[in-house]
Amino acid sequence: MRKKLVAGNWKMNKTPSEAIALVSELKPLLNNDEVDVVFCVPAIDIIPVVNAVKESNIKIGAENMYCEEKGAYTGEISPAMLVDAGVDYVILGHSERRNYFKESDDLINKKMKKAIEHDLKPILCCGESLDQRENGVTLEWIKKQIVEAFKHISPEDALNCIVAYEPIWAIGTGRVATTEQAQEVCHYIRQVIGNVYGKTIAEQMRILYGGSVNEGNALALFSEEDIDGGLVGGASLKPEFAKIVNYKNSSN
Ligand code: PGA
Repeated sequence: MRKKLVAGNWKMNKTPSEAIALVSELKPLLNNDEVDVVFCVPAIDIIPVVNAVKESNIKIGAENMYCEEKGAYTGEISPAMLVDAGVDYVILGHSERRNYFKESDDLINKKMKKAIEHDLKPILCCGESLDQRENGVTLEWIKKQIVEAFKHISPEDALNCIVAYEPIWAIGTGRVATTEQAQEVCHYIRQVIGNVYGKTIAEQMRILYGGSVNEGNALALFSEEDIDGGLVGGASLKPEFAKIVNYKNSSN
């Protein structure tokens, strides 16, 4: 039985003091042992947020990291820095990084391997554009992204990875994928993982859906067989996030 995971992706929002205020508001609402809760926050918010979530089950994720140990990479953050600051998860390959910062599958694979070396759990994002969906190439695109990201990663290490299916056309648009569309692709991702690593690992790996998740659609999405929770952007910055984590209590 896979435990559900709901991760907030704050993106480039919240100053350190705003971050502390948000966590103080959310923390008392997030007492749910059935769901793993992760706040993926901007680098500068990590230390204050790690302190603010103490004495709770909330884990902290970074939104990005670099694939080298240390050195002359001005502006980048290393995995050791994240671990030392108290981070457990790291989002890799988000479509905003692929599109705005031109991150390639090869770079994302290097980051995956480096994160794993440091015992960080990657949340690997994949997803198609609207054009790709309309042209009927969604599944082959997703397969390529998954296969390239997991290159040279052992089965044991793959188990510590999480995949987030995030159709680009559903991110920040309010245009959520239907539960059938989301389930179809998450199921397909599990098949691809199964082809690479075998059925047992595929059955254990957590696969999330992301893209306009909100309190109204979380229950339906997370009830699908292959959807093990969500990566939540806009709604993670509001008290609504607690309703998504506590989706089972929702009346929708
Ligand atoms: P959204 O973002 O929930 O605001 O659509 C999701 C994401 O980009 O991870």
